[in-house]
Amino acid sequence: MTLKIADRGRVPPFLVMDVLRDASAREAAGASVLHLEIGQPSAGIPNEVAHGLAAALEAGTDPMGYTMAQGLPRLRERIAAHAERLYGHSVDPARVFCTMGSSAAFLIAFLAAFAPGDRVALASPGYPAYRHILKAVGIEPVLLQVGPETHFQPTPEMLDGLDVDGLIVASPSNPTGSMLSPEALRALAETCHARGIRLISDEIYHGIGYGMRFATATAFSPSAVVVNSFSKYYCMTGWRLGWLVLPEDMLRAAECLAQNLFISPPTISQHAATAAFDCLDTFDALVAGYGRNRDLLVAGLAKLGIDKVAPPDGAFYVYADVSHLGLDSAELCRRMLAETGVAVAPGWDFDPDGGGRFIRFSYCCAEGTVNAALDRLRAWLPTL
Ligand SMILES: Cc1ncc(COP(=O)(O)O)c(C=O)c1O
Repeated sequence: MTLKIADRGRVPPFLVMDVLRDASAREAAGASVLHLEIGQPSAGIPNEVAHGLAAALEAGTDPMGYTMAQGLPRLRERIAAHAERLYGHSVDPARVFCTMGSSAAFLIAFLAAFAPGDRVALASPGYPAYRHILKAVGIEPVLLQVGPETHFQPTPEMLDGLDVDGLIVASPSNPTGSMLSPEALRALAETCHARGIRLISDEIYHGIGYGMRFATATAFSPSAVVVNSFSKYYCMTGWRLGWLVLPEDMLRAAECLAQNLFISPPTISQHAATAAFDCLDTFDALVAGYGRNRDLLVAGLAKLGIDKVAPPDGAFYVYADVSHLGLDSAELCRRMLAETGVAVAPGWDFDPDGGGRFIRFSYCCAEGTVNAALDRLRAWLPTL
């Protein structure tokens, strides 16, 4: 007898992870692969953090058991205090809620804030897991097509006449890297609050910017939910640790959900993350390196005729229009990996309507990797 897979469980794949799987298989078979597909800093945690952690494990001072569902108090305090450095004002540690990566933060926030059948607006192109997690929990994603006219970000006007319960924004955005100015974020946050729309602000790329000021949604709205993570600026993707800054009304619901879904975030990762706040100069130096990679990649691609790119204000992605090459992005990425070993992500992941025209390059790798990828593309593009 064949048993069913529930419809809500049939979400589309996260294509970047499929490309990573294929690229890694090629690598394991001995091919030379340049990883520009995955948004994962190639630097790991700083040595000081690793050594401190090793010493603590050896000393056995903490048995690394469960923590409170919302995480270690010391870590929550450090996250809250760090807001002072980034935004010029601190956040109440009682509202900071640590999670198993920002991915779990989304699940907790969506379950606490929305009911099955609710509708949540979000930009397209945008991070695919928003759509897929929403669908898995019975919430309808409402895509707002964004482009150069609005700096690849949603605007308050786009909400006019739209019957939605929530709005997700990401600044800097994945895949475009575009940012909302503090004024633009304020306008969205105030509009949402006034209209009873729950704003979810994904601030996972904060700290990785190239000139524009960062602002947090909690500064502009008491009902906004902020999502953040140690994966990007702090180079801790595999440690699976993120956090929420929650409005008062969601705290208890989030606590009960997290207790039941996850018990607590990984304890060893919480210790590492607490120590990571002592290494901010190291992370800032890495961001300076991403900035150099960005300039190199944007200029190098332009010389290859790939010159229609979204404004890379922050994060570490270049989202490029490659429609002039005459191939669908999935086929282009497949051939690029097979014929050059350069792994990049197809736009289909981020935009189910127009994604065939775009590809995304991730540049949080070594400068040599960007240069080598440009060299390979220079030789390969004329053969298409
Ligand atoms: C915009 C955005 N949000 C959330 C995530 C999820 O990150 P994590 O679960 O590692 O915190 C990612 C990962 O690439 C991302 O790009």
